[in-house]
Amino acid sequence: MIILIFVAFVALLLYSVLIFKPKNFPPGPPCLPVVGSIPFIPAKHVQFTMVKKWKKQYGPVVGLMLGSKPALAVIGAEECLEVFRRDEFQGRPDTFNSRDRAFNKRLGFFFTDGPFWVEQRRFTLRHLRDLGFGKKSLEGIILDEAEVLIKQLQFNEIQKCGFFGVPAINVLWAVLGGERHSHDDREFKALLQKITRLFRTGNPSGDIVDVLPFLRLIFPNLAGYRERNIATTGGHNFFREAIRQHARTLDENESRDFIDVYLKEMKKNDGINNTSFTEDGLITILLDLFSAGAESVANSLDYCILYLILHPHIQKKVQDELDAVVGRSRRPSLDDKPRLPYVEATLTEVLRINPIAPLTPHHRVLKDTKLNGYDIPKDTTVIICSYGVLSDPDHWGDPEVFRPERFLDSNGKFMKDDWMINFGSGKRFCLGESLARNILFIFFATFFQEFSLSIPEGDPKPSTMPQSGFTTAPYPFRMKIKERL
Ligand code: HEM
Repeated sequence: MIILIFVAFVALLLYSVLIFKPKNFPPGPPCLPVVGSIPFIPAKHVQFTMVKKWKKQYGPVVGLMLGSKPALAVIGAEECLEVFRRDEFQGRPDTFNSRDRAFNKRLGFFFTDGPFWVEQRRFTLRHLRDLGFGKKSLEGIILDEAEVLIKQLQFNEIQKCGFFGVPAINVLWAVLGGERHSHDDREFKALLQKITRLFRTGNPSGDIVDVLPFLRLIFPNLAGYRERNIATTGGHNFFREAIRQHARTLDENESRDFIDVYLKEMKKNDGINNTSFTEDGLITILLDLFSAGAESVANSLDYCILYLILHPHIQKKVQDELDAVVGRSRRPSLDDKPRLPYVEATLTEVLRINPIAPLTPHHRVLKDTKLNGYDIPKDTTVIICSYGVLSDPDHWGDPEVFRPERFLDSNGKFMKDDWMINFGSGKRFCLGESLARNILFIFFATFFQEFSLSIPEGDPKPSTMPQSGFTTAPYPFRMKIKERL
């Protein structure tokens, strides 16, 4: 009898650690007990492994196991576009890490779905639009920030990249918290640095802490857990303090910014059971928006500089167009955009060739479904490799070449391309897209109107190979700045 119990116990133990892929699931890397495919997912440059290796080896849709949970890496361009389109692929997984940053609940946008996400996203989008997201009313703030930055840089002939963080986040914070921070503000810069480190340490395809959360107690640095925790706590404290300050000075007749609008909605919902408008919810929304905005715009602008110092003839064409259309006696404005097709094409080409989000945050399958003839069970995690779309040779011809002309028609007019899905697509498209596009355009145009940039004499040619992380960033490089005006 004892032997029987022992055998049953061992069998049960084995069953719980062995990992079985679902039936008729796409092929993919091997699976080990307990951890699944995680050891076979590279920690760095996973987008290149997916596009250059896995797609050839396994096909456009790859089956993985994150611990005992099935996951898909969608790499083929047509398949990515299909998954963006289909509603059943628009959930988000409920993971240890996502709850860990949201008071052990499901809050914010990045890691929620269902009615909670719909209500919060609709409310936020509506009010951020009213407060000026994507509108000309924010243009003045964007231009002011660009001007302050330019004044600072005029005195530094040789400059290291990485100076767009505070100016870009200042524009966003003007809408969220109604405040502008000095570019030297230590506390603000420290928070940004924590968030930057968090983004660099993450692996957008899979995280062992989600699979075996107890490991973080033994190895606190595992998979960037410590950095994530420091950034989350820093963000929580900063936003809680801002919310309390707003609550003390709230004016019922006027809303200064998004925090005011949300606080009023919280008051309206006071006493309602299960309301989705809570202080913890607001803190998580601010953390989502702040971290999404902090890295993305600043890193994209660093890439712009990198590509234009590596391609001086393209930089010259950008400046020639700016000189011809805007001149040198005033700053470029959003109204100039339609008359600056080469500027827009160059900016778009930078976003394509080195996307800051080569993989989207994880999606989740909301009901049993099929993809490419495979059976995909409900709750499968989905990693969409946008880089697969942005680098597809059948569509772009020469995706590895930096060529802004691909976005110009035969009359030199800017041409949109539906495959530019670097802001996502479908129901989960980026919530900050219009704001990000406006900041990118004004900063980029103003910067190259004011300065000519080059590689400092004696410096090696900087590499375009991206640093890995939840988002990508160029490796640090230096530039020589020369005033044009
Ligand atoms: C160059 C700039 C940016 C790029 C390339 C970018 C790209 C993306 C991508 C690829 C997604 C994921 C879509 C998906 O899961 O399918 C996303 C989501 C999101 N982005 Fe952005 N983003 C940028 C700037 C911003 C800014 C400035 C903000 C903040 C205002 C922002 C807020 C968000 C939010 C909240 C989501 C989650 C949406 C949801 O799940 O409902 N992003 N973004």
